[in-house]
Amino acid sequence: MKQFKVSIPASSANLGPGFDSAGLALNRFLTLEVIEQEEWEFEHKSHFLPYFTNYTDHFIFQIAKQTADRHQKALPGCKVIVASEIPLARGLGSSASAVLAGIELANQLCDLSLTGEQKLQYGTDIEGHPDNIAASLFGGVVVTATTRNNQVEYVRLPSLDLDVVVCIPDSELKTETARNILPDSFSRKKATTASAVSNVMIAALLSGDYHVAGKMMENDLFHEPYRAELIPNYENIRREAKAMGAYGTVISGAGPTMISFVPKGKGAYIREQMEATLSDYTIAALQIDQTGVQVD
Ligand code: HSE
Repeated sequence: MKQFKVSIPASSANLGPGFDSAGLALNRFLTLEVIEQEEWEFEHKSHFLPYFTNYTDHFIFQIAKQTADRHQKALPGCKVIVASEIPLARGLGSSASAVLAGIELANQLCDLSLTGEQKLQYGTDIEGHPDNIAASLFGGVVVTATTRNNQVEYVRLPSLDLDVVVCIPDSELKTETARNILPDSFSRKKATTASAVSNVMIAALLSGDYHVAGKMMENDLFHEPYRAELIPNYENIRREAKAMGAYGTVISGAGPTMISFVPKGKGAYIREQMEATLSDYTIAALQIDQTGVQVD
């Protein structure tokens, strides 16, 4: 009888102009303790997890089943104890983490020996975009692109000398709502400028020029100008964070959380300062997780 643990980090997608492409993993985790047994059973150990009635309704089970089906394998029963530090519908990649949990569950229980590339592809097929999946799967900062034949390519950046601070409001924002507000197309001129901003942002991160990276982050043209109105205190948080020394502040994924890149070692200080002005937010100084999905 198999027994193992799976840990999957939260993630923040886009980093501003890297819309649907760039993401980073955060040191907040979804964890599963799995014990093989006759019947399927889920136990929840955190209030961040959605309500379910039967194991067949459980999102993680459904993804595991779908993954096993792709390989014509039957999923053996097991007890899964789930704990989560990732709030739902806040732009911190809770759904991508749950998708990866399901894929990894099937991988372990059915001995699928999936490669990282397969997990990325399966996860992207389900999520519709690879940014959160790639970051949570591989850890660190990951940049992805979907090629014309629908294959996902990724590059994991060397580790960055940064801390991050997240401002999480109490309210939820559905990704669908935040996607529906975006235009269907951009003029060539706008798309060219927007992708140039993104290119410079990634190049600046790679060369360690975090001031330029932060400036580019705050100059996104793909989604932030449209989503800003959905994000409480959007301008306020940017301004406050900048005044405290942040390099740049953007919407985390589809929001409503805002994420700031801040100098290494300054996270706790900036968090404290931000807390004084944003008292009804959960503000956390986090690290970029470098490990990604882990199975023990
Ligand atoms: N890239 C996605 C978006 C992330 O911004 O809509 C949220 O799932």
